[in-house]
Amino acid sequence: MSWIREGELTILERFCANIIKAGPMPKHVAFIMDGNRRYAQKCHVERQQGHSQGFDKLAQTLRWCLNLGIREVTVYAFSIENFKRSKEEVDGLMDLARQKFSRLLEEQCFLNVCFAYTSRHEISNAVREMAWGVEQGLLEPSDVSESLLDKCLYTNNSPDPDLLIRTSGEVRLSDFLLWQTSHSCLVFQSVLWPEYSFWNLCEAILRFQMNYSALQKARDSYMEERRRQQMERDQAYVTKKLQQEGFASHGDSRRRRTLLQKCTAMREERIQGFLQALEHKRVDFFERLCMVSA
Ligand code: IPE
Ligand code: IPE
Ligand code: MG
Repeated sequence: MSWIREGELTILERFCANIIKAGPMPKHVAFIMDGNRRYAQKCHVERQQGHSQGFDKLAQTLRWCLNLGIREVTVYAFSIENFKRSKEEVDGLMDLARQKFSRLLEEQCFLNVCFAYTSRHEISNAVREMAWGVEQGLLEPSDVSESLLDKCLYTNNSPDPDLLIRTSGEVRLSDFLLWQTSHSCLVFQSVLWPEYSFWNLCEAILRFQMNYSALQKARDSYMEERRRQQMERDQAYVTKKLQQEGFASHGDSRRRRTLLQKCTAMREERIQGFLQALEHKRVDFFERLCMVSA
């Protein structure tokens, strides 16, 4: 039987879900699932039991998200920093991850798992990939931009989260999705992750709804600014090209317009070529990794 689909909402939960769904809903929610060890201590159970209940809570939370029409969920399951914990705890978490994620991912297509992840590592890796593209002659230095960096992140296939929730009362991001959450609604809740309830999720969504117009405004003005910056870069590129070819940079506006269109199309082509090469590089890397670990 399905782990996520089994169990329905109670009548009261369904009633409240319908009211909440009348407002703007987050399409993508990210969770920092924190507080497993404090929960174990509070309930006088083994630490591993706390982690195990944490994984089970994820399955339950995904079911609520499904019922609420949330199409995508990203979870912080294990950070690179977490390797510093005792060997026993790390081994226990790896065992749980193997068991529980294979089951969850079998039946889910809307879950992204950040495991052995930190955001700074992800961002610096994206910067290295762009430097590689320039070095290989696939990109011009002027192609490097915020939107290209977006495309080099591991999350390139997902929209940025609308809502990020951290449990256990900690009010920091602990190196999670730093780039992707600058226009997300951040909600910090004191509940420990294994005790997370449908009502906690509703509360977080209500907070998102209360801030919806401000979030939307910030996102729109950022996108507008990004478009303006790209246009400025393209204009500067054309000016340089015209000067190199011995034309006055402000002289012939038709020549300028034609060159601008050509430069934009060429930039798009370079970027597509670079992203394809990057995809091949990543596939090669994973194939070699699978061969080593087989
Ligand atoms: C989150 O709970 C799970 C992982 C980091 C793997 P913790 O293990 O951090 O539990 P607390 O925060 O110490 O209670
Ligand atoms: C963040 O929790 C990572 C995960 C929830 C997987 P931690 O408990 O490891 O983070 P810090 O140490 O409190 O920042
Ligand atoms: Mg913690």
